[in-house]
Amino acid sequence: MRDLNVLDDLESFSDALAQRWLTLSQEAIRARGSFHVALAGGQTPRRLYQRLASAAYAPHIDWTHTWIYFGDERAVPPEHPDSNYRMVREALLDHVGIPPGQIFRIKAESADIEQAARAYAEDLDRHLPRGPNGIGQFDLVLLGLGEDGHTASLFPDTDILSVLDRAAAAVYVDKFCAWRISLTLPTINHARHVIVLAAGAAKARIVHAALGEPPSSRPLPIQRIQPTGALEWFLDRAAAEELSVPDPA
Ligand code: 6PG
Repeated sequence: MRDLNVLDDLESFSDALAQRWLTLSQEAIRARGSFHVALAGGQTPRRLYQRLASAAYAPHIDWTHTWIYFGDERAVPPEHPDSNYRMVREALLDHVGIPPGQIFRIKAESADIEQAARAYAEDLDRHLPRGPNGIGQFDLVLLGLGEDGHTASLFPDTDILSVLDRAAAAVYVDKFCAWRISLTLPTINHARHVIVLAAGAAKARIVHAALGEPPSSRPLPIQRIQPTGALEWFLDRAAAEELSVPDPA
């Protein structure tokens, strides 16, 4: 299943995403006793995380049975302005009562980033519920979208795109001259539910390339997100501008 949700603006986009989180978390906790979610980094999801921490949503979410992971992390300390963990902590984690033992920060600032990636993969293997093929399975993975078609830290033409035997890996990103740690494609595609979120006019071209055109012989990383579970896209009108879709609901 691939559903496309186009919302009028960032506020309604973030609210619709918060509502979907609420529904998916209630379903997971009712069915399996816990909700395991990998969060997107970057700027787009910040408002979503703030909405989840607001009085409109936080009281209705069972945070004590919510387990937080990260889709990727930059090679910076957790208090660095570029840290995805810092963004999530300020927007969400500082405001809701998730037990600290249920939050798995990627320690990408480590001097040994390969070891840090192995340690994160071990966290995933130890704490994620097992899926049908015996590997860890997220209830939900949130993914942003870069203008070059990357998602998480799965950047075009990087080795991590062919890592199939580990849940997470380190990747050197030439365009940033920097290391990152990211979930790998098998882990993302094994999730029960994947949501790609993109907002703003700057994403309209790559959204059209990803959704409006069939994958070429060299598909974009985002086009390799083909989960066995559900795949949904959430866009605001500006990011959907180049798609031929009906007006937002
Ligand atoms: C990161 C993200 C990355 C991000 C996209 C979109 O660490 O940068 O995980 O994949 O989601 O680059 O970023 P924006 O939401 O800031 O446009």
